[in-house]
Amino acid sequence: MQAVDTIMTDKAFGASGDKIVIEEFLDGPEASFMCFVDGETFIPMVPSQDHKRAYDNDEGPNTGGMGCYSPVPVVTDEVSKVVQDSIVKPTLAALKKMGIYYTGVLYVGLALTSKGPKVVEFNSRFGDPETQVVLPLLQTDLVEIMLAVAQGRLDSIDVNWYDKKALCVVMASGGYPGSYEKGKVITGVGEAESNEDVIVFHAGTEIKDGKTVTSGGRVLGVTAVADSYENCIKKAYAGVDKIHFDGAHFRQDIGKRLLA
Ligand code: GLY
Repeated sequence: MQAVDTIMTDKAFGASGDKIVIEEFLDGPEASFMCFVDGETFIPMVPSQDHKRAYDNDEGPNTGGMGCYSPVPVVTDEVSKVVQDSIVKPTLAALKKMGIYYTGVLYVGLALTSKGPKVVEFNSRFGDPETQVVLPLLQTDLVEIMLAVAQGRLDSIDVNWYDKKALCVVMASGGYPGSYEKGKVITGVGEAESNEDVIVFHAGTEIKDGKTVTSGGRVLGVTAVADSYENCIKKAYAGVDKIHFDGAHFRQDIGKRLLA
């Protein structure tokens, strides 16, 4: 009801909000299922799960994603097979029928409903922050995979994954996803990365007068790779604690649902 008021009464999106489409409600958790596709063959990546809401306990407004982990316990091999057979294969077959030779990454945004996996959205790109947890688990050289994608020979290569977990905490500008200030000096990225299991991905940053400053809503993604989700959480937040910029905002509960 609030969203309808924001769109239709407050005109948050101007005249675009004069008409709205109300779709079937999908219960259950969401998961991101990305695949490499070369037009004929597809190879699924390890599934991931985003935290879309701005604040802890999945409260507050929707964002591009405040944190993520991979793999996803609820996306079992059985669920993955259902997604491949009932969603990915028919989608690629339909594209082919329409004369679309789809190559690259197919991102399937899923709701794992009580009636089985359903599509929330498709994106023809990598997910953000999903990629910050999926690629660190990739054992095979990404360039080799992308070459195979471009040359239509994905069926001739093996794609292997580390048997580990990865988790990313997004550090955002104060106020995001609403209005926020830019140009805040960022410190501590090097210290955070002094732990070899931590990678700090830059999103909304730029260099000004020799200093790294904020330049967007989602500023950094701090990813940790470990043997357990618990250790990922510890390492990622230890990295986050070392990084500072004015107004930095991040969720404190990324991955906590895994431990519950
Ligand atoms: N994290 C959601 C997306 O990349 O669309």
